[in-house]
Amino acid sequence: MSATLDTAPRRDFLFYATGAVGAVAASAAVWPLFNSMNPSADVVALSSIRVDISGLTVGSQLTVEWRGKPVFIRYRTEGEIAEAQAEDVSALPDSIARNPNVPDASIASDANRAVSDRPEFLVMIGVCTHLGCVPIGDGAGDFGGWFCPCHGSHYDTSGRIRRGPAPENLHIPKLDLSGDLILTLG
Ligand code: FES
Repeated sequence: MSATLDTAPRRDFLFYATGAVGAVAASAAVWPLFNSMNPSADVVALSSIRVDISGLTVGSQLTVEWRGKPVFIRYRTEGEIAEAQAEDVSALPDSIARNPNVPDASIASDANRAVSDRPEFLVMIGVCTHLGCVPIGDGAGDFGGWFCPCHGSHYDTSGRIRRGPAPENLHIPKLDLSGDLILTLG
């Protein structure tokens, strides 16, 4: 096998973190869980994973892959939270929370999208609701949240679509966050 192939990056499961050493540690924590699952399609469809996010720091984002999709886990700043909470939900392009952890058709207030009782954490499936590209984070776009460069969709600091062709807010996965910051997806 050539050196090029030996060192080629894995792309079947992609984990990366930005902005914090602690986030890297958190991503390492989830890898053995994934590896040990040896998933077949039906197992993947039903699976849940646990992610230790205790190493995340304010303003950083961790991305893990779950059920074949990226999931963004962001530790928001106070400014990001305040901005998200101040928005008039009725004026948003999509006024639905898109969060299976709250009752169906709940409004897209920040309280209905952030992790319950821990508004600093926002967890979303990182797939643009237009045609499925992966948006760029870390304050990208005109609303300080995420930006999808494929066709120009701008999401705010709560992951809500604000401008562009995407029809819906970024979706929230089914989740649970324990007191010691172990996040369960699924
Ligand atoms: S796929 Fe994101 S804007 Fe088209």
